[in-house]
Amino acid sequence: MKWLITGLKGTLAPVLARVAAGQGVEVLAWRRDEVPPDDAAVCDNWLRAARPDAIAHLGLGSVEWAGRLALHAARLDLPFVFTSTAMVFHHLPDGPHAPGDSRTAQDGYGQYKIACEDAVRSAHPGACVVRIGWQIDPEQPGNNMLRALDQWQSESGCVGASRRWTPACSFMQDTADALVALLRHPVAGVVHLDSNADRGHSFLDIVHALKRSYGRDGWDIRANEDYVHDQRLVGGWPGFPQLAQRLAHLPGA
Ligand SMILES: NC(=O)c1ccc[n+]([C@@H]2O[C@H](COP(=O)([O-])OP(=O)(O)OC[C@H]3O[C@@H](n4cnc5c(N)ncnc54)[C@H](OP(=O)(O)O)[C@@H]3O)[C@@H](O)[C@H]2O)c1
Repeated sequence: MKWLITGLKGTLAPVLARVAAGQGVEVLAWRRDEVPPDDAAVCDNWLRAARPDAIAHLGLGSVEWAGRLALHAARLDLPFVFTSTAMVFHHLPDGPHAPGDSRTAQDGYGQYKIACEDAVRSAHPGACVVRIGWQIDPEQPGNNMLRALDQWQSESGCVGASRRWTPACSFMQDTADALVALLRHPVAGVVHLDSNADRGHSFLDIVHALKRSYGRDGWDIRANEDYVHDQRLVGGWPGFPQLAQRLAHLPGA
């Protein structure tokens, strides 16, 4: 079993690769310096030669690349997973957000991910578009909530946290486990993975729990109301672990 995973120099893809390899999967990387994602002919030749059994597209890059990868998977009826984001939803109208809700992003990143979702789904009717929230991991560098909070503390001397933001979020290990399951047992359409969907903890409570759980005694947490959004991704994948299972210090955990 050989899976192509894009974005392996990023944050989440290495965790997915580790979980997949631990289950006996051979992981194929996409090397953008050798195979330019926007050269359609080179991409197609490379994909035909590499012969992956499934594709997990976690890399950023062009909308066309996302569509091209999905089309290759569709032609060979291969499982295809694309990671999208809670940021396809603007804070107005407020959430929680269900898989079929209108996508309302106003910013460039959210609109880019909407375009990728559409390219993937129109190329491959069996593709799984997985929307995820902010990822958390004790170690992983990159776009990781815990690391971002460390950075806020070191750069601003405090960690500002809105009590009126209910973020979509999950631990990378749980996200990676779910992505592996979705590659093994494909689900067509949009799947939400949010460990905060049921209980709806505020960002402020999550930051306090992370501080205690990971010994961040030096964080100076300042409560605010700067961002107001019930961002939860509801209607998600059954059995996805809840935040309280991972963060003992959350209220009610
Ligand atoms: N981390 C989060 O909290 C989070 C939250 C919501 C959604 N997501 C989604 O999950 C996926 C993985 O996220 P991530 O945090 O691992 O992303 P990341 O750390 O920003 O890594 C993205 C990777 O994409 C690849 N890439 C391909 N084309 C690129 C381009 N033109 N510019 C920049 N990078 C390019 C690079 O890897 P290579 O050099 O190996 O190609 C890069 O390391 C993404 O689709 C992201 O939108 C992540």
